[in-house]
Amino acid sequence: MYFDTHAHYGSELYDEDRDQLIASMPEKGVELIINPGCTLESSMGAVALAEKFPHVYAAVGVHPSDCHTWSDEVEEGLRKLSAHEKVKAIGEIGLDYYWKDNAPADLQKEVFTRQMELARQTGLPVIVHNRDAHKDTLDIVRQFKDVQGVYHCYAGSIEDAKVLVKMGWMLSFTGVITFKNARKALEVIRWLPMDRIMIETDSPYLTPEPFRGKRNDSGYVRFVSEKIAELKGITPEEAARITTENGRRFFNIPR
Ligand code: NI
Repeated sequence: MYFDTHAHYGSELYDEDRDQLIASMPEKGVELIINPGCTLESSMGAVALAEKFPHVYAAVGVHPSDCHTWSDEVEEGLRKLSAHEKVKAIGEIGLDYYWKDNAPADLQKEVFTRQMELARQTGLPVIVHNRDAHKDTLDIVRQFKDVQGVYHCYAGSIEDAKVLVKMGWMLSFTGVITFKNARKALEVIRWLPMDRIMIETDSPYLTPEPFRGKRNDSGYVRFVSEKIAELKGITPEEAARITTENGRRFFNIPR
């Protein structure tokens, strides 16, 4: 059974069939899903979905691409939501210097730092998004020695991975590792201790091969797990079992 540690079911791409699709996941072998928010509003939506489905949990936070929505009221709203029993992380938060329309780096850094502080105060782990901001992201992460986290859809170097592993952090991987041009992430996975690996779909995007280009959902997470198994030289069953245990430990969801 699989644990999809990152899927955005608030996306409008699921408006036609959201509830049936999520309800069908246990019979497709997906026993747990983390659904992270990107704004206060989508974080509230994530909590509502988690209340509806026993196998779905939420993370709450403001995504770097949505930093322009940040305010003291948003911060208070996230703080209230974080006390909900099905909220298992602050996320998705971080820095994204790739998209030119995103808020300036200074605002992104402030919003990221404030949410790291929220994680420290609540004792929740964080789900970090980093795109083209490797150094600044790691600089902020290092300031919070008592906050644990995961770099989702890891795309960094093996050097940064070593730093993160030393700090006790996790790395998680998407369908990108099944793409033909994937190389760097595969090297990182070959090196990475098995107890630091989690899997995710980042649905509705990044659908793994052989379904690349289609709408993604948690049912496709098995292709990510199978690729990990191949890279680590273990059976697909072991990869599924270990990544699920890693997710349960990290997000504090005991059996
Ligand atoms: Ni995401």
